[in-house]
Amino acid sequence: MTDRPVIWISRRLSDATLARATRDYECLINHEDQPSTPDQIIAMSHRVDGIIACHSEIFDAEIIGRLAPRLRIIANHSVGTDHCDLPGLRARNITVTNTPDVLSDATGEIALLLMLGAARRAVEGERLVRSGAWDFWSPAFMVGKQVTGQRLGIVGMGRVGQVMARNARGLNMEIHYHNQRRLPAEIEQGAIYHSTLESLLPVADFLSLHCPATDKTTGIMNGERLAMMPDGAVLINCARGTLVDEAALLQALNSGKLAAAGLDCFVDEPGGNPAFAVHENIFMLPHIGSATRATRDAMGFRALDNLDAFFAGKTPGDLVN
Ligand code: DGY
Repeated sequence: MTDRPVIWISRRLSDATLARATRDYECLINHEDQPSTPDQIIAMSHRVDGIIACHSEIFDAEIIGRLAPRLRIIANHSVGTDHCDLPGLRARNITVTNTPDVLSDATGEIALLLMLGAARRAVEGERLVRSGAWDFWSPAFMVGKQVTGQRLGIVGMGRVGQVMARNARGLNMEIHYHNQRRLPAEIEQGAIYHSTLESLLPVADFLSLHCPATDKTTGIMNGERLAMMPDGAVLINCARGTLVDEAALLQALNSGKLAAAGLDCFVDEPGGNPAFAVHENIFMLPHIGSATRATRDAMGFRALDNLDAFFAGKTPGDLVN
């Protein structure tokens, strides 16, 4: 018998995370690493005091209504919490935490990769060389859009947005941003604030989305707003798929309004949007913004820090509800 808290680890976390978790907790681990069904989540809630969940586990009103009272904390292994109905979980007295900060550098790397890959025609170029179909070169061949010195618009100048700005400064880009609040000058570092998205869009040769997915941000990049961007602009999204109206994006790419897009997130995940597949000017990755070894360890440890604080009777550092 033990009085250690019992936790469910809902997906395959890093070895270092699992080692620390099993040292400090009674752990039930989803070694199969498949997303859990609502019934499996409910069944687990009867057996555990806490869950380390990923964005693949959905805690919506229907599931929350069926959770067992034993479950007291969901320590997310993600910065995004759009898979959780936060007020609903609070109403059931279930604490929710996330893992901010530790994934900003890794996600900022992917944003940079998406921007460069989309602008410089990485999909097309890679396919040509890999398939052996590359049989021609000329100065007119595979000419892309230059990134250096261009204007970058950032929507959501939080932790990841700030890393993207830092990365883009290395390319001598002019940084513009829209955020709920203007940032202090030492964080802005010369970036130009736009109090509205409508003011930012016309100057965004490149637009990178870094805001959370909420009811207010669903479909913020719709047809009307895409039309406000400069002709030949590039859209980058490594935040959440729901921020973009995917049909409108396809239309903007088909019409030539946008030159390219770089996407790590899709409305439907896993899977993405099959209609994007034929478009070589869409550079796509399978939601891997935070997928580096160092960051996975740091995310796991941050989730465990939150659990440790909670079970020690303290307020977890990353409380979100
Ligand atoms: C996050 O942390 O929100 C990433 O999207 C991975 O879940």
